Amino acid sequence: AQEKLDYKARIKQLLKEKDAVLIAHYYTDPEIQALAEETGGCVADSLEMARFGNNHPAKTLIIAGVRFMGETAKILAPSKRIIMPALDATCSLDLGCPVKEFSAFCDAHPDHTVVVYANTSAAVKARADWVVTSSIALDVVDHLDSEGKKLIWGPDRHLGAWIEKQTGAKMVRWQGACIVHDEFKASALKRLKAENPEAAVLVHPESPADVIDLADAVGSTSQLIKAAKELPQQKLIVATDKGIFFKMQQACPEKEMIAAPTGGNGASCRSCAMCPWMGMNGLKAIEESLVNDDGHEVFVDEDIRVKALIPLERMLNFNV
Ligand code: 13P
Ligand code: SF4
Repeated sequence: AQEKLDYKARIKQLLKEKDAVLIAHYYTDPEIQALAEETGGCVADSLEMARFGNNHPAKTLIIAGVRFMGETAKILAPSKRIIMPALDATCSLDLGCPVKEFSAFCDAHPDHTVVVYANTSAAVKARADWVVTSSIALDVVDHLDSEGKKLIWGPDRHLGAWIEKQTGAKMVRWQGACIVHDEFKASALKRLKAENPEAAVLVHPESPADVIDLADAVGSTSQLIKAAKELPQQKLIVATDKGIFFKMQQACPEKEMIAAPTGGNGASCRSCAMCPWMGMNGLKAIEESLVNDDGHEVFVDEDIRVKALIPLERMLNFNV
């Protein structure tokens, strides 16, 4: 416990000394989320992380999250130093969507508008017409569909299928998945619902379609926290990374929260509703990255950056 207090105190001091601000995702360790808030940084979904970093005056942004979040920050604010406690923290969606193959996929449909999820590399974003996060994906696709655009969607297949269902748009879809959300199982969730008939079910749309079908609320991390507060039910079954419970419980301390089941038994579960890459962020890693940024700083090739900036700015300027 003393060690943690020491880390926190040193991080606070270093943030001031280095004109740095800590920006954390809802899936990081609660200690990191609390520290980000305490030090004037933010805890947010991937869209708000991008907005906050871009608008904040600090010279250095410490991004506690996964690689694409650091790259997005760098693309938007190239003059800032972007530091990641865990530069190797990737995402299965990013890994499953290599730029060469994705570009060929796009080239095969030359008359299509390319919409990519933020959980992709800077190079994939550079090949896109639009970048979206789960907070804004539905509205952007609905808008493009209403303009009669033919659409390519990538990489998350479940989010893509859900958007199609909600908007009626037909998209040519890449078949990627998030290893965390892909593990939620409808059969086990049905049983849990039957045991808790008074509970509401909240689901992140990276989950399989049959899990989404059981939901009372579907949305991005920030939308799920909002729904947790607003839904009348006092008991909530939540299908997303367990890191979200920290802010969700703060938003409605009186409610009871249960993690949605992953897989038939614990042993078969690869991730157990905890993103292994988000988990690479820790107090020690944050302190180290502030002391010595070697191996922690994010760089994006300038050619790629200027191309990726266009679809990212479209997202940030999109008014619902
Ligand atoms: P949000 O944009 O909802 O925060 O999602 C990011 C993410 O990685 C979900 O797995
Ligand atoms: Fe990627 Fe899934 Fe981890 Fe989010 S939870 S960063 S989508 S692997």
